[in-house]
Amino acid sequence: MTRAAHGGGRETFFGLGRGQFPRLLRAVEGRKRLVYLDNACTALKLRAPAEKMRDFALQGGGCAGGRSMHALARRSEEAVAQTRAATAAYLGAASPREIVFTSGTTEAVNLLARGLPASPGRREIIVTDLEHNSAYLPFYERARRDGLSLIVAKTKRGRLDFKSLARLVSKKTMLVAIPRSSNVFGGVLPLDAVCDLAHDAGAFVFADEAQYLQSHREDVQESGVDFAAFSAHKLGGPFGVGVLYGKEHLLNTLEPHKPGGGTVAGLKRSGGVWRPDYLDAPRRFEGGIQNYTGIVGLGETLRLHERVDRPALRAHITSLVRRSVRGLSDLRWARVLGEERRLVEGSIVSFHVQDKRFSASDLAIFLDQDLPRDSIAVRVGEHCANLLHGRLRLHETVRLSFFAYNTAREVDRFLDALCEYYRACVGRPAMPKTRRPPARRGRRPARKVCRRA
Ligand code: ALA
Repeated sequence: MTRAAHGGGRETFFGLGRGQFPRLLRAVEGRKRLVYLDNACTALKLRAPAEKMRDFALQGGGCAGGRSMHALARRSEEAVAQTRAATAAYLGAASPREIVFTSGTTEAVNLLARGLPASPGRREIIVTDLEHNSAYLPFYERARRDGLSLIVAKTKRGRLDFKSLARLVSKKTMLVAIPRSSNVFGGVLPLDAVCDLAHDAGAFVFADEAQYLQSHREDVQESGVDFAAFSAHKLGGPFGVGVLYGKEHLLNTLEPHKPGGGTVAGLKRSGGVWRPDYLDAPRRFEGGIQNYTGIVGLGETLRLHERVDRPALRAHITSLVRRSVRGLSDLRWARVLGEERRLVEGSIVSFHVQDKRFSASDLAIFLDQDLPRDSIAVRVGEHCANLLHGRLRLHETVRLSFFAYNTAREVDRFLDALCEYYRACVGRPAMPKTRRPPARRGRRPARKVCRRA
């Protein structure tokens, strides 16, 4: 049964209940409620993957990668193969050979950006101005190293301007990179349409899925995307493990980014030099001993996500985004980035306050430490999206990001605390644009717009 609870005390249940996240069961400093709204940075961790990892480390612990033949090595080999198959199935990939394990999205993008083979006629890489540094910088460095042009497609309020993107994409384009969901603007970017546009010009497409797969599913064969990446920790899984998806025939054209043990069939002597005979993907990219424990944790994380009632989860997160956007929009002094109808497709709401007396960093400390009953975690700053903040001339924004366990009451607590902070630092009452509507009997009262001083 799916119970999309919106009350603070009740548990959200979509297959990912609050009880599955042990950190939520413990108070902060022994007495405060944790209100965790920093899920775009990392989600709180699920119990089952952590337990599976502990068992694997303590009861298994052998190395995989075809190195040894004993029982412990075989067990690790099998566990890695299972996670690879589960990841391929999760993404709708054609084969487990299309799944490369990395340390996270950042390594995955670096692998792609460094490894893409040069093509004489295709000397342009297109990224958007929404790019996280972990997507922008690898392509920037590749372009710098090889004298390629790095073109930044501008977005408007978090939306792709398709007409101008269409003017940028040409037979000279090597690859178009987009975030599936921006880590600042949230929402969702239209991957299918970008794939159609780029593929018509013979270019590849990379989708940064780091902020998308927490509450959405992706089918890489349906969209036709050539490469995609995500990290386990944003899904409630372990740190230090992520995935690069790539179409098999394309992965096999990429240069290995960290050659080492486990990447070659052998060395062959030619011209007086011992030269590597690299294995096919994914092994050619998985040099050295891997994070097998993390890979096992990823497998368990995806197993739990497979069981999630996705429409109910999305409906819940949409309601939290909408509540936040409306609550913030009621405050004359807060500016939400993006439009509600787009934001509700994602899991993120960012805003800023243009008043010199207001400091987002100070707010973050206030929320974390100064409230009597709650400790509210948000992220403030540029969120590693320096390109976007630079273009918007914003020094710092405040970001709320939601996952399955968040509740409407947590949104309200945040809004109340924000008003309290604003009153304290700006020194006058925070007047809402609208009045609080009367509560109706038997229903949860509408969100409090702002507590008055
Ligand atoms: N990419 C993570 C964020 O946006 C770290 O916060």
